[in-house]
Amino acid sequence: MPEQDNSIDEMYRQYIIRLERKLRELEAERMELRRELRRYKMEVDKLLSPPLIEAVVLSVLPDGRAVVKSSTGPNLVVNVSSYIDPNKLTPGTFVALNQRGSTIVEILPQYEDPYVSAMEVVERPRISFDDIGGLEEQKRELYEAIILPLTKPGLFKELGIEPPKGVLLYGPPGCGKTMLAKAVASMSKATFIRVVGSEFVHKYIGEGARIVREVFRLARKKAPSIVFIDEIDAIAAKRIDIGTSGEREVQRTLMQLLAELDGFDPLGDVKVIAATNRIDILDPAILRPGRFDRLVYVPPPNEKARIEIFRIHTRRMRLADDVDFTQLARLTEGATGADIRAIVIEAGYFALRSNRKIVTMADFLAAIDKVMKRRRRPYADVTEYGEEQVPVTRRNEGAAVMHM
Ligand SMILES: Nc1ncnc2c1ncn2[C@@H]1O[C@H](COP(=O)(O)OP(=O)(O)O)[C@@H](O)[C@H]1O
Ligand SMILES: [Mg+2]
Repeated sequence: MPEQDNSIDEMYRQYIIRLERKLRELEAERMELRRELRRYKMEVDKLLSPPLIEAVVLSVLPDGRAVVKSSTGPNLVVNVSSYIDPNKLTPGTFVALNQRGSTIVEILPQYEDPYVSAMEVVERPRISFDDIGGLEEQKRELYEAIILPLTKPGLFKELGIEPPKGVLLYGPPGCGKTMLAKAVASMSKATFIRVVGSEFVHKYIGEGARIVREVFRLARKKAPSIVFIDEIDAIAAKRIDIGTSGEREVQRTLMQLLAELDGFDPLGDVKVIAATNRIDILDPAILRPGRFDRLVYVPPPNEKARIEIFRIHTRRMRLADDVDFTQLARLTEGATGADIRAIVIEAGYFALRSNRKIVTMADFLAAIDKVMKRRRRPYADVTEYGEEQVPVTRRNEGAAVMHM
């Protein structure tokens, strides 16, 4: 059977030759792939080589690219490197871009935004309700709406009533809105976080929505807490015309604020107070039940309140016997609390100029003359409503009514 042996030998030989050829091919391919790998590794190294650019994700586009705000300024549309988990790219995430700023190459650890942590007022303002003249009803409102729910939440649960989520203080400037909020902060032992609306327009350009989100995150972390949004009209004006990118930006900030307000529990331990001089231009969305559902009007002081305000601001002053607060209050019809403070300071200066340490009625009269002349009437409010006609508070439908 030698012939058969031969043919089997031949078959194996052919087979081995084929395998050897295959092996050579694969080895060549392996070399090629190795070269390619080196090339890609170099590219990745180049991509990741410092300095990288820090940026914050604003949104992720449907096509997988992302809009970020770079620390160098502009908003950029960038690629997302394939080894980044796209699910981790939520708005507000800190990321690193490659040197060209074209691609997100790394997700950075989250840290507290220095802007936001700076908003926590560490030293509680030392203002109490006694430092605020008049406004008795408003003080009671704030006590019941903010301080009581924070200190005795059980009481509200037992009674089955929901305190308001947010309180909006409104009225002409200089009449004590900011003071009231500060006093509430100092009376409750809550963390106090103060945000000024106009800063969103000037200081946090392009980052408004993120800052709002961060502020509430901080508030939840440090609860019980009070978030005070002063000059809220700067971010919550009516949507008239969204033309410029600046307006779109304000819009995004407002939407984020509404989302935050909707998101928390009225019985929870984060409370929101806002203040505005211009309730007339506020977007009605902000006043809907479940948002700022208690509106507290802070009017200009009437005569009785003006007497108190004079008394408060002259507490550390040496006054001559002839100083008559009732008379001063009568002479300052239409003056705000801020005006009265200015009058007291001016009176002090008049005394100073005459080398006296005691302030006289004549000093006050001269000061009233000076301050009231200088004063424009910036808001029709003051004259439009008589002080007593306007109800102190308005409650939106659906808001809890609380009388104790
Ligand atoms: N009711 C008041 N009692 C005492 N001082 C007041 C009162 N209202 C205003 N003031 C004085 O005017 C200043 C400005 O008041 P502020 O609370 O900032 O006004 P608003 O926030 O309503 O514009 C205060 O710092 C305070 O000195
Ligand atoms: Mg104010």
